Amino acid sequence: MPVLTNIGFLATCKDEGQQGEIHPIKEAAIAWQNDTISWVGQESDLPSEFKNEDAFDADGKMVVPGLIDCHTHLAFGGWRPNEFAMRVQGKSYLEIAKAGGGILSTVRETRKASEDELYEKASGFLKEMAKLGVTTVECKSGYGLSVEDELKTLRVYQRLGEDQPMHIIPTFLGAHTIPPEYKDNRQAYIDLVIEEMIPRVAEEGVAEFCDIFTEESAFTIDESRRILRTAKAAGLTPKLHADQLTSCGGAELAAELEAASADHLEKISDKGIEAMAEAGVVGVTLPLASLYTQEEFLDCRRLVEGGVDVAVATDFNPGSAPSYDLPLAMMLTCNLGRLSPAEVLKGATIYAAKAINRDVNLGSIEKGKSADFAIIDAPDPDFWMYHYKGANCTGAFGKGEKIY
Ligand code: NIG
Ligand code: FE
Repeated sequence: MPVLTNIGFLATCKDEGQQGEIHPIKEAAIAWQNDTISWVGQESDLPSEFKNEDAFDADGKMVVPGLIDCHTHLAFGGWRPNEFAMRVQGKSYLEIAKAGGGILSTVRETRKASEDELYEKASGFLKEMAKLGVTTVECKSGYGLSVEDELKTLRVYQRLGEDQPMHIIPTFLGAHTIPPEYKDNRQAYIDLVIEEMIPRVAEEGVAEFCDIFTEESAFTIDESRRILRTAKAAGLTPKLHADQLTSCGGAELAAELEAASADHLEKISDKGIEAMAEAGVVGVTLPLASLYTQEEFLDCRRLVEGGVDVAVATDFNPGSAPSYDLPLAMMLTCNLGRLSPAEVLKGATIYAAKAINRDVNLGSIEKGKSADFAIIDAPDPDFWMYHYKGANCTGAFGKGEKIY
């Protein structure tokens, strides 16, 4: 039975208390069997049965739960560096999208790519993410926008979930934008999502969540309600890209539908915060998207003070957030979202687990949970976020296996 000893600071991140309470144990050890944690505590209390030759040494460093990136668009064809160059020179994300770039340009490339090509590319990203301490990744479709291309993307996630020692959580995002062949008939595309895509996705069991881009420039509140209600009835839990560019009531809709999360939220209203707190919907902040689109950052302190649990994710995608660096998103949330390092740590672990309905077995270091943890070269979360550097993770375990 493997053990990890000599942990200087163990942030267990148990789901108790406020967002900033990470329930640390100093001079700690963890033991696990296969993929499940069997013991956690102070090393001086480690029962003798766990003292065996399978010991890993944390070298006095900090250990945190394997990080959870609860919002990514992991599988896509091509890249869009030209748009990045245009944006930094003053063109807005929306202007670029209206000129045929944006999501639609990735749709063209994703449709051209084979399932195996998408698989290889996404699998490469996962290996890089593991080096940052990430052990769980939520992955959205949404660059296929036809029945077959959406299923192709979701099958990539299904295969990755089977092949990788990481947890892969698949989300159907057919309502990402209206594809070009339906540009003069949006109603027919919405019908396709409702009548064909959702039933096929549910029947094939290739997604657990249904997400939507609720925005004036994408899907209206009424369209979103119709699509997400259908998804929910088919067994897919709702999630929303909400109130990113305009305050259009996305957060309120997330609460009404008891969504697992509402994400982005830069323009959330006070009413939206109240509704989400009451319904227990997790708010997911995506600061890398704000950074790359040069939009305002979500003031996460407002949400925490309003009683909403805040998770932090990357939104990794080829357009608005072409980086999968979750610790960087955490550091930005400290500096620009006004959360403390301990709060963002809970946001990238146990609250991120809540955003994907996995808090029962992921997101904290406790007996009976999945053996997922990361060794961080810092004495505590304050120092980690303060002296931010790219290569801070020196080891990661996913499902009990050393993945980095
Ligand atoms: O989460 N907001 C909509 N969708 C993505 C952007 C996707 C893209 O630009 O390709 C997002 O930011
Ligand atoms: Fe997104």
